[in-house]
Amino acid sequence: MRHFLHIIDFTSSELKGILKLATKLKADLAKGLRPPLLAGRVLGLIFEKPSLRTRVSFEAAMAQLGGTSIFLDSTENHIGARESIPDQARTLSQFVDALVLRTYAHKTIEEFAEFATVPVINGLSDYNHPCQALADVLTIREAFGDLKGMTVTFVGDGNNVARSLAVACTRFGMNFILAAPKGYGFPEEFHTNYRGAFPGKLPTHITDPSEAVSAADVIYTDVWTSMGQEAESKARALAFHGFQVDETLMAKAPSHAKFLHCLPAHRGEEVSAGVADGPQSLIFAQAGNRMHAQKAILLWLLGIKI
Ligand code: CP
Ligand code: NVA
Repeated sequence: MRHFLHIIDFTSSELKGILKLATKLKADLAKGLRPPLLAGRVLGLIFEKPSLRTRVSFEAAMAQLGGTSIFLDSTENHIGARESIPDQARTLSQFVDALVLRTYAHKTIEEFAEFATVPVINGLSDYNHPCQALADVLTIREAFGDLKGMTVTFVGDGNNVARSLAVACTRFGMNFILAAPKGYGFPEEFHTNYRGAFPGKLPTHITDPSEAVSAADVIYTDVWTSMGQEAESKARALAFHGFQVDETLMAKAPSHAKFLHCLPAHRGEEVSAGVADGPQSLIFAQAGNRMHAQKAILLWLLGIKI
């Protein structure tokens, strides 16, 4: 049994297989096909943080594939509060076929996965966001037809979204550049894990956004203050001054460059409205791809072949 906690745990060939499955499921749905591949299966979702895309895309995925989902809102009673994580994980495993967790602390998901006897999927933690990264890769491949040699520049915080994206880019043969102010690059823990998977390599970190986007095929950004960091928001707004992805920055990239954002977006902060809603933006196709990517993750983890 495998969990889906980090992109780094999956080989390039496994990830390519999941992506192929996602592409097929998306094409089938476009033809009106909703094969009941998950009939009788139940997905449990336990979220300590708010969500629009992750929750709805997983629940819609289960419904379209003939299964069902149960959402446990843990925004007030965090996982482990009423009973221990090992007890909760082992109990829930009696009822559901797979679980999606969204937590503050990444170690909560890891502990849950250690005790669960069904696959656990990381629906975002303070460390990473692997489901998002897979949908991002699907979106990039749809836009460009290929992935190898593409350059993805992430302008903003070296956060959960950026970390999973950096690993996914490397696994798929893309170049990844982080444009972040000093002090907001990737943490040492991430570098250690990255070096473990890709010996002798580290993602490029550039502090000048203009230089970082000069060869970008894709420009990506995310909020400056992630969920759980609200107390730092003023300091972050100051630190990220000059890092907004606006029309001036987009003009410094090749004209074919596309804009991505995991959403939710704060127009006027990390991105201008003109870029978010402009002709280079793929943000809603990207959001839509969450469901196709996650259907593929579910089928792959449950060993269901199509
Ligand atoms: N991108 C993303 O994960 O969105 P939600 O927080 O709405 O799930
Ligand atoms: N970095 C953001 C992503 C939200 C999908 C956060 O963690 O709040």
